[in-house]
Amino acid sequence: MSVGIESIGIKLPSFAIESRKIAKLRGIPEEKATIGLGCHMVGLCMNQETVVDLAVNAAKRAIEQWDGCLNDIGMIVVGTESSLDEARPLSAWVAERLQLNGAVRSYEVKHACYAGTLALRQAVEWKVATQSPKCALVIAVDVCLYEPGHPAEITQGAGAVAMIVGQDKICSIDLRSYPYSEPCFDFWRPTGHAFPIVDSSKSLNAYLKATENCFNALFLDQTDLSFESFKSICFHAPFPKMVFKAFKHLATVFNFSECEHQKFLCDKILPFLTWNKEVGNAYSASLWLSVAQALDQANTGEKIACFSYGSGFGSELFVIERTNGSGFWAEDVKTDLAKRKEISIEEYDNWHKLVNHPPSRQ
Ligand code: CAA
Repeated sequence: MSVGIESIGIKLPSFAIESRKIAKLRGIPEEKATIGLGCHMVGLCMNQETVVDLAVNAAKRAIEQWDGCLNDIGMIVVGTESSLDEARPLSAWVAERLQLNGAVRSYEVKHACYAGTLALRQAVEWKVATQSPKCALVIAVDVCLYEPGHPAEITQGAGAVAMIVGQDKICSIDLRSYPYSEPCFDFWRPTGHAFPIVDSSKSLNAYLKATENCFNALFLDQTDLSFESFKSICFHAPFPKMVFKAFKHLATVFNFSECEHQKFLCDKILPFLTWNKEVGNAYSASLWLSVAQALDQANTGEKIACFSYGSGFGSELFVIERTNGSGFWAEDVKTDLAKRKEISIEEYDNWHKLVNHPPSRQ
């Protein structure tokens, strides 16, 4: 049985500001945002837009483009670190709005930015283990906010990617995958805190270590694969420069020449980070935005490497392969980018001052 993705829906937030404007507000050189971290826009949920709205709208878009119906869904799983409750899963809010109930397994997965990937892997494993004719609705969604004045404020963002896991209509997902984890306090958000606590250098180093271990494991196990084998190499993208740093680290570990390094970067990585640059760090959704862009541009038979990282820390690498169909989900991105409102520095400053409490229950 070849398991894969049957439909994809994306929802980006309705407001945005340029990262360099946040830098300006905080007295940071604008080039640190644009060149130093490679950031462009920060997507923002304002005017009552919530993580649930992002998730529901992404799911609705995936379902609208799908040839199945709600009765064909046997599982809904949401990967997020923007949960609204310690007990009630975010999936319950989403299922309620979709009117999805009955013989459906519904839950939330948490592991920082790795949560969306874990949700997807669990859906794949559920499909294989149960041989169910039903599909799983997987949603990777997050709203990323840092304390006003925190150096990472310019990397904020938000977004949701919904994927219907069933047959390999858009892509197949390899059942082999390569995880690497180490318990670590690199980035965490204690219960009730609105903003995360970050040990920046620990988080950068943990990400690099995870990358090296996962790619080593992949190439040791699948000796027929090399970096050349991939149409695109997609990474969790907290900010674009992190991806370049990780790939530079891989170039050293795997002994690329400078010419190879630059060619891989230009051909296999940079073209699939432009959606990420439009929304900033969408935590769990970040890797899946990049993968969705890569799938849109891939031809039948082309492979994509998917590297997921979540603080704490956990990571996983696996390969998917494009099968058929059009990239209809690219329209979601076009629509949302065309409709969204860019706000001023003053509007941002006034709004962010109010985000100092835990998210309200709906
Ligand atoms: N012009 C051009 N470049 C400039 C500049 C200027 N005026 N000023 C600084 N820079 C460059 C620096 O030289 C540096 O470049 P290199 O990395 O190539 O050395 C870059 O800008 C960043 O500068 P700093 O290292 O001084 O940045 P910082 O100490 O403010 O940290 C940060 C930046 C890592 C984003 C930090 O804000 C942070 O902790 N972010 C959150 C954690 C994070 O994203 N970690 C990534 C891995 S963990 C993960 O992936 C999970 C997740 O989503 C959070």
